[in-house]
Amino acid sequence: MTQIQLCQADEITEGEPFQAIIPGHPPFAVFKVEEQVYVVQDECTHATASLSLEGTQEGFHIICSWHEATFDIRNGKGISGPCEKPLRAFPAHVADGVVMIEV
Ligand code: FES
Repeated sequence: MTQIQLCQADEITEGEPFQAIIPGHPPFAVFKVEEQVYVVQDECTHATASLSLEGTQEGFHIICSWHEATFDIRNGKGISGPCEKPLRAFPAHVADGVVMIEV
């Protein structure tokens, strides 16, 4: 496991998905719910939509705008719609104001 710094915690607004770009990695989608951060792969597993840029967050769910696949941001599992494959979810925490994940 490697820890990487994704972004500043204060860049994340509750209910508004944030896209974090880290060189050498595919984009990450970062969420905040009740002051807790959650991170999943940004690309929808159905096709190639960006969940952070094109999805809608409803609590712990992210809904892809392309075909309405819905995933749980806590574990990446598909909830409904065309989401046979789960999203990759990354253990995340905040340290000294920085969102950290393990990859
Ligand atoms: S690309 Fe996300 S549901 Fe089809």
